[in-house]
Amino acid sequence: MLNVLVCVSGGGTNLQALIDAVKDGRIRNARITAVISNNRSAHALERAKQNDIDAVCLSPKDFGERAAFNRALLEMVDSYAPDLIVLAGFLVNIPPEMIRAYPNRIINIHPSLIPSFCGTGYYGLKVHEAALARGVKVTGATVHFVDEGTDTGPILLQKSVEVHADDTPESLQRRVMEEAEWILLPKAVDLIAAGKVEVVDGKAVIRQE
Ligand code: GRF
Repeated sequence: MLNVLVCVSGGGTNLQALIDAVKDGRIRNARITAVISNNRSAHALERAKQNDIDAVCLSPKDFGERAAFNRALLEMVDSYAPDLIVLAGFLVNIPPEMIRAYPNRIINIHPSLIPSFCGTGYYGLKVHEAALARGVKVTGATVHFVDEGTDTGPILLQKSVEVHADDTPESLQRRVMEEAEWILLPKAVDLIAAGKVEVVDGKAVIRQE
């Protein structure tokens, strides 16, 4: 049984997709052991509590120095001994010590087809604003392993989504979530829990059998 820790900052619809997928069997062999938020008012914390999942808040604002927050975050994470850490809309730069402590065991969902519209500054609605400004006809979402760069780790899964002529950043964000994110993230966790994913030469390889 894979112990999964989910890190969130906001609404938590991706967390909800994971919770639902564990319940209905689309994710097998895994359980969500805890949810960590950097934001006390994140609705994701409520979603965790409603599902009897440990929900904790750890805000950088409660620490004088960033290094102290980083240490506390890693201690909190370690206390759950997770097999997999899922960043589901976690708007915190993951400390390098945490990445080194969990190599190829942290995944992130990004709302574009990496390498488009990713990297520093591309988060939330900004990603969809940039896609619309560029006039792309197709966008999507990506699940990738987290390395020390921003959105640079091995790509595990991607799914495309059509852009409509009358899209706003909000309508596009919603469609990317519905048609890609909420499908990809549970699938990624299920594949990892089934032991079907390996990182070879910096690339994620999915074993099909
Ligand atoms: C999602 O668009 C995700 O791709 C991005 O942040 C958003 C989180 O949304 N990283 P939610 O909190 O899961 O609703």
